[in-house]
Amino acid sequence: MKFNYTRIFHPRLQHGVIAVILAALAGPAAGEDALMVDGARIEQHIIELSAFGRNQQGGVDRVAYSEADLDARRYVSGLMNQAGLEVRIDAAGNLIGRREGREGRRPLMIGSHIDSVPGGGNYDGDVGVIASIEVARVLNDSGTMLDHPLEVVIFADEEGGLTGSRGMIGDLTPAALEVVSHSGLTVADGIARIGGDPHRLAEAARAACSLAAFVELHIEQGAVLHDEGIDIGVVTGIVGIRWWDVIVEGIANHAGTTPMDKRRDPMLAAADFIKIVNNVIRSEAGTQVGTVGRIRAEPGAPNVIPDRVVMSLEIRDLDADKMQSLFDKIRQQARQIAQRHGTPLEYRELDVASAPALTDERIQNVIAKSAEKLGLSQKRMPSGAGHDAQDIARIAPTGMIFVPSVGGISHSPREYSEPADMANGANVLLQTVLALDAAPPECTIASAND
Ligand code: GLV
Ligand code: MN
Ligand code: MN
Repeated sequence: MKFNYTRIFHPRLQHGVIAVILAALAGPAAGEDALMVDGARIEQHIIELSAFGRNQQGGVDRVAYSEADLDARRYVSGLMNQAGLEVRIDAAGNLIGRREGREGRRPLMIGSHIDSVPGGGNYDGDVGVIASIEVARVLNDSGTMLDHPLEVVIFADEEGGLTGSRGMIGDLTPAALEVVSHSGLTVADGIARIGGDPHRLAEAARAACSLAAFVELHIEQGAVLHDEGIDIGVVTGIVGIRWWDVIVEGIANHAGTTPMDKRRDPMLAAADFIKIVNNVIRSEAGTQVGTVGRIRAEPGAPNVIPDRVVMSLEIRDLDADKMQSLFDKIRQQARQIAQRHGTPLEYRELDVASAPALTDERIQNVIAKSAEKLGLSQKRMPSGAGHDAQDIARIAPTGMIFVPSVGGISHSPREYSEPADMANGANVLLQTVLALDAAPPECTIASAND
């Protein structure tokens, strides 16, 4: 593929091309014989991947199951082949590249996702995928045989509710398959479109303790590492996420002839609801967050008082009980809105929920030690973003590595991570894989989904 950088690349990516040359010259500290990733190749692959679904702002609209998603999946399949991986698609639509290890060992798994939110950036998920393929490539090119098979996974539809990883832990319910994804297709139709099979999902499910370990590298998506000048985040836990559709019923009427005191306006009720969400979430100490990120008025015209408003509600926290109690509090306070405006409120929870998860402390230590060996600074920290790792943590010892996001911006075309930081993260991932291969943690998980 030939690229005209100045014409098609976001200025940050152009900057990245220059920065990667500097990064390749500098590189982190490592022993003479240590295997190292190729930072320039990682940056080149990130640039190439950014072409699929590129939007006018320099980011990507590459929602799961779209044409752009399919094209990007073909591109990364090619990279996996070049890295010597045997590629297949499981029934949940996950792309999996595998290299064999010694007979009878359970696989080590690494990976992330390449689907984006609408109006997404070029680093969320992509960095972990490209770095994982790079790790496989370095092992392949150096003729390094691991004891364990290595599987590189590109999870399907991460941004629609961790769909691929839910499939991998046997948690994709009929209700989850009916959810309409960002692409407009139901999850079931989307899975079929990308080569999975929604009728054979059991085949994608992995049993508890069937993986030796899972490690996901990801951009932080917050500003902590960047602001504090720290190279690597060792993730301690990942927030749970719950989504609801909140439906407010009113009475449609003429916007010109209906006096202000004679209306049952669901839009006004929605405005009050949004304020209640903000107040309730902020009323308690802690790092919980709550968001109304989508709203639709029906029929939706400037001169019609709507008869129905549908909005989203999202709540995140590391504590599942706290998420429930915050929701109960919102619902309790929102009762007076219904009374005040004469507009009943109804809540429909979407089956996209992901439970909070702690990462495995032993893997945290391996990641920290790998960073230390490479001369990189590090910090233990929780993740406020959701990740496939939180699902896989229910069936396997799991760890996560963060690299800095410039300015903490994410889910935006302005998302950016420095090439040197991506290379650092990939080197930590490589060293972590080697260490886990030599000494895998014992699996103490009793069974998935309990
Ligand atoms: C996943 O990107 C999330 O919404 O946190
Ligand atoms: Mn994301
Ligand atoms: Mn992500």
